[in-house]
Amino acid sequence: MNVLLKKAYISVRGPLFLFVKKEVPMMALAYFNGKIVGVDDPVIPIDERGHQFGDGVYEVIRFYQGKPFMMKEHLDRLYMSAKAIKLEIGKEPDELEALILQLVEKSGLAQADLYIQATRGIAPRNHLFPKCPASISMTVKPARELSESMRREGVKVAVLPDERWQNCYIKSLNLLPNILAKQEAFEQGCFEAVLVRDGRITEGSSTNVFIVKDGKIQTTPLSNRILAGITRLAVKEAAEELRVPFVEKDFTPEELYQADEVFLTSTTSEVLAVTVADGREIGNGRPGSITGRLHECFQQKTK
Ligand code: PDD
Repeated sequence: MNVLLKKAYISVRGPLFLFVKKEVPMMALAYFNGKIVGVDDPVIPIDERGHQFGDGVYEVIRFYQGKPFMMKEHLDRLYMSAKAIKLEIGKEPDELEALILQLVEKSGLAQADLYIQATRGIAPRNHLFPKCPASISMTVKPARELSESMRREGVKVAVLPDERWQNCYIKSLNLLPNILAKQEAFEQGCFEAVLVRDGRITEGSSTNVFIVKDGKIQTTPLSNRILAGITRLAVKEAAEELRVPFVEKDFTPEELYQADEVFLTSTTSEVLAVTVADGREIGNGRPGSITGRLHECFQQKTK
């Protein structure tokens, strides 16, 4: 939504008031340790460990028509990630779920992205674990929809080295290698970085990666090298419903280039066709039919 903000400037003739047009998501809201606040409010203390160390885990849950999609799976993954970093969230999943639903309801947003971060709390800087409660923060904002043309034409990807740590199954706040890879891909004119470790594709910087060859869908098997995507799971179910074979097996960049179709999945991208990888056209250079059918089936599930 556009609003006009009154801004004061000091000019040689005294104060000058100007009206500035600014994009403000009016209904966006945030939450920090028990308080609902504005998304721009300065609420994170300087000693908060998510900020200082990236010492925490997170999730993003999309709301469709005011309802969360696969909330249980997201919460299960959040608690699994927290356990893996020895973080005690200090709230039961039901309690957290109620807080999430309350925040989204208060925002009034029907199509929304809810981010939740759980960190090791607020304590003077020290690498050792502090004896303090975890911090919980959330934001809810209008869902970031991809453009019509990205949906229609598909997107480009760049294949880049996977420089992340060994525990990518944890949805950790430490995203530096992901960010660097995404930026590099962007500078090459691409939407996403597809990462390679030991000659095999792992996943995207913020997506899971699939190829389609001879009518079969193939994706990297679950291990500590990738995040067990919730959309990946929904796509696996969709493939079963559509009776399209679904194989979990490693593949190389060469197999990606030679695939009939390539697509990405994530909570925010849903099912997104890739039509160019490292400047090479995938298949006939158009989003593939299996990708299209999977996306349709996925969208049905969100209704
Ligand atoms: N990212 N792999 C990585 C590294 C991711 O960060 C994500 C999600 C996925 C897909 O997971 P899911 O289908 O559960 O969203 C795979 C989200 C969108 C993010 O960080 O904003």
